[in-house]
Amino acid sequence: MATIPTQPFAGQKPGTSGLRKKTREFMQPGYLENFIQSVFDAVDLDGQTLVVGGDGRYFNREAIQTILRLAAGNRVGRVLVAKDGILSTPAVSCVIREHGAAGGLVLSASHNPGGPDADFGIKYNASNGGPAPEEITERIYRRTLEIDEYRMVDGYVDLERLGSTRMGKTDVEVIDPLADYVALMEKIFDFDRLRDFLRGDFRMRFDGMNGVTGPFAREIFENLLGAPEGSVIRATPLEDFGGEHPDPNLTYAADLVAELAGAHGPDFGAACDGDGDRNLILGRGSFVSPGDSLAIIADMAPKCIPAYRNGLAGIARSMPTSMAADRVAASLGIPCFETPTGWKFFGSLLDAGRITICGEESFGTGSNHVREKDGLWAVLAWLSILAHTGQSVSDVMQDHWRRFGRSYYQRHDYENISSSAADAMMSSLRGRLGALVGMEMAGSRIRVADDFSYTDPVNGSVTKNQGTRLLLEDGSRAVIRLSGTGTEGATLRLYFEAYSKDEIAQNPSERICPLADAVGALLELNARVGRAAPDVVT
Ligand code: G1P
Ligand code: ZN
Repeated sequence: MATIPTQPFAGQKPGTSGLRKKTREFMQPGYLENFIQSVFDAVDLDGQTLVVGGDGRYFNREAIQTILRLAAGNRVGRVLVAKDGILSTPAVSCVIREHGAAGGLVLSASHNPGGPDADFGIKYNASNGGPAPEEITERIYRRTLEIDEYRMVDGYVDLERLGSTRMGKTDVEVIDPLADYVALMEKIFDFDRLRDFLRGDFRMRFDGMNGVTGPFAREIFENLLGAPEGSVIRATPLEDFGGEHPDPNLTYAADLVAELAGAHGPDFGAACDGDGDRNLILGRGSFVSPGDSLAIIADMAPKCIPAYRNGLAGIARSMPTSMAADRVAASLGIPCFETPTGWKFFGSLLDAGRITICGEESFGTGSNHVREKDGLWAVLAWLSILAHTGQSVSDVMQDHWRRFGRSYYQRHDYENISSSAADAMMSSLRGRLGALVGMEMAGSRIRVADDFSYTDPVNGSVTKNQGTRLLLEDGSRAVIRLSGTGTEGATLRLYFEAYSKDEIAQNPSERICPLADAVGALLELNARVGRAAPDVVT
């Protein structure tokens, strides 16, 4: 074993979802070593089990070899590492839970592009399978500021061969990535019923976006459920995701959206992001907004998914996510929690059994089966709803809106803007919050203008400054926040929501437009960041 002297790197502070940086930054000598050693210093894994897997992006394999050497140097008892190093984020969560591991390392920058000039990321997950809470990520960060050595043993593990080897005193097991996760899906959903459904006339298309879900989707939809070969496309994980942006939304999954738009397209389309935690759901000619998807799944799950037959304990959504889920919770007589952005805030509620289903507007939906959002779970949930109701995606949505009214929703992203301009804009807005109350906006009036802060109802931890909210008297809202996952400049996210009880057939863009314009003017967006329009609208 060697102890290697090192010096701290600035900026190793985990954000919304772990440490995300440009790949080259991660590849600097000592950079990855420092961060991982800081994890081992902050969380005692001596003699414990650790799960390691990533989304297969550029630098995944090298990073895993370094992590294994560090794990052995820090006397981790056993490391479960996925074959080829590729494991979806929800599958990491599943493996941690199934094998009683003390934690896991997820190597991914999620939906961000991969490659030497693109992004890389690492996230530490705790023994519940979920992203480490802020108390732990803070401890890791503090450690990165003072680290002066890391400990490694020499060695190399063949990740292509299943089975056990030793590195130092550490047992390294290369495991089948699909086994635990697929078995869990078979426990949750009625595979017999889904098999009948997918062997009938129904046609689906699943787009793996060259990310990690391709092999999982082939196994589940084609091999186990009998969807025709070719139902799953772009199913081979590629280091650079084929040069694309593996983010399943209307902008980056444009080909799938176009295929579903045609009259002769498939009945159902879905896609997942690079690491498999996000999902996009499409019907023929229709798009399910993530906030609606959460509400509809929560409403329907007890009726059509065996694992939720006994009902839901509660629902949670991140603050910017549409309030459609709140109305479902009210109708079911269960609580709905509003958390800050990022899956880590759902963990304590899930662990305490306070919620069963949760989601975010950023195409993330999941349940208490793991502690990450789960793209394929959401696709299986939608297939179960369609099999149960016999309706089209569009009819399911219409029915839902007729019962609950409709939240018109849009998110506008301004990517890679100047950080200083973004910070100045946010602080100017914060300085004016008090004066905004009562101001006229988009045909209504501002009722509340504040910065969202959250007190975890289970452990009492307080998280502040999680986005500026403008709540209007007519029930619409706008949320303004800066991204915590970007790797270049700043990304500004503007979230808009407007509710109608009866008018459910409006065009979402038209409905949102007056509010978006008013917020743009309030922020002096054009003058401050020099952009006339958002880069991505979802
Ligand atoms: C974004 C999403 C957030 C999600 C996170 C990780 O974070 O907005 O909902 O949990 O990615 O997938 P942000 O960049 O906004 O901080
Ligand atoms: Zn992701």
